[in-house]
Amino acid sequence: MRTTVGIIGGGPAGLLLARQLHRAGVGCVVLECRTRGHVERRQRAGMLEQGTVDALREADAAGRLDAEGLVHRGIELRFDGERHRVDFPSLTGGRTVTIYAQTEIVKDLVALQLAEGPPLLFGAEAVAVDRAESTAPVVRFRHEGRERALSCAWVAGCDGFHGISRAAFPAGLGRSYAHVYPYAWLGVTAQVPPSCEELIYARSERGFALHSMRSPSVSRLYLQVPDTAVLGDWPDGRIWDELAARFAVDADWSLRRGPVVAKSLTPMRSHVHEPMRHGRLLLAGDAAHIVPPTGAKGLNLAVSDVRVLARALITLHRTGDSQLLDRYSELCLQRVWQASRFSDDMTRMLHARPDGDAFDHRMQLARLRRITASHHAASELAANYSGLPLPV
Ligand code: FAD
Ligand code: DHB
Repeated sequence: MRTTVGIIGGGPAGLLLARQLHRAGVGCVVLECRTRGHVERRQRAGMLEQGTVDALREADAAGRLDAEGLVHRGIELRFDGERHRVDFPSLTGGRTVTIYAQTEIVKDLVALQLAEGPPLLFGAEAVAVDRAESTAPVVRFRHEGRERALSCAWVAGCDGFHGISRAAFPAGLGRSYAHVYPYAWLGVTAQVPPSCEELIYARSERGFALHSMRSPSVSRLYLQVPDTAVLGDWPDGRIWDELAARFAVDADWSLRRGPVVAKSLTPMRSHVHEPMRHGRLLLAGDAAHIVPPTGAKGLNLAVSDVRVLARALITLHRTGDSQLLDRYSELCLQRVWQASRFSDDMTRMLHARPDGDAFDHRMQLARLRRITASHHAASELAANYSGLPLPV
């Protein structure tokens, strides 16, 4: 098999890249190791920056997003029994965010790709990238019980944190920077209308809680739990009681409870691999970097990498000019580090450290009070949350 760009991974990064390349007439093939049902059901992100929505519109993949996405104009910060709203449009010159589940983006992109191309192979597990430093790299993969080869001009490693692309960089080339946070998130999806109109980020001495949503009838909620937590210790009643305690405010407000339809644990870590390119192998999305989920940057970063990568590959294809591709890693990493910093700040400001003392609590409150008291500090949060500009 032969193509121009071999894409490893059919998550949001790989699928959006394929869509953009295909529309520009650049040939590509997507290899995805899991089944269609699996990738379409994997519950993950829900908050899209304005730039992510714009990218899906540019790719003509936003029909359902525009019809069903929930446009949000702010978030609520909750602490010390108080509620404080951060209004994005007034702080950022009109920016908003949109709530639309990653599962739905994946469904939309898969449906388009199966209808219009380019080829998307499910159950195709890449096992190695050979000759990445040559002009003819090869992806070796297993499909339907056979070992096969995909010869390409370029390889896009969009295979997430546990994929094989990052591992195909020679030892000694590049470096990873990593941090593991001493807690995890327990996420639940519940068949109950949200108890709020905008997302709530709550800091309490019992730990962090986040109220998000998937639609007017489905809530999505997260609880900070110890990194040793197991789902068996968290029956639904305990989850609702803990959420209610962490969201409690002095004002009149109550949490609506309903049937829990999905439950999962997510470890919290930061990881950045530099550089994001080795020869003709280019990493994008979680394959190159992971952020802790507080602030919802992971999917948005994957999309911003892909916007730069698609533009660079299309420019090369149309004009022969490789300048953008040559700067791909450097350009993406600027934004990656800014998003890592923002996610780290939000995580530390809102979570209770297991070894935290009274001084740490006071510092967290001082940071939160600064945001609620200062237009400048609130603007900084709003600009980062709604998404920093693309580097190109
Ligand atoms: P992935 O989605 O991981 O896709 C990689 C794909 O590659 C997968 O389909 C995988 O099966 C495939 N693959 C792996 N290995 C191989 C192989 N060897 N061969 C072929 N295929 C392979 N981000 C946000 O922006 N906003 C949020 O609100 C948000 N909330 C989150 C909440 C939770 C609980 C979690 C866990 C994450 C959240 N994120 C959020 C992060 C976001 O989900 C990820 O950053 C996003 O999925 C990255 O997309 P990706 O395409 O790079 O990687
Ligand atoms: C969601 C996840 C996040 O990490 C976040 O900060 C906001 C929303 C979500 O899944 O809806």
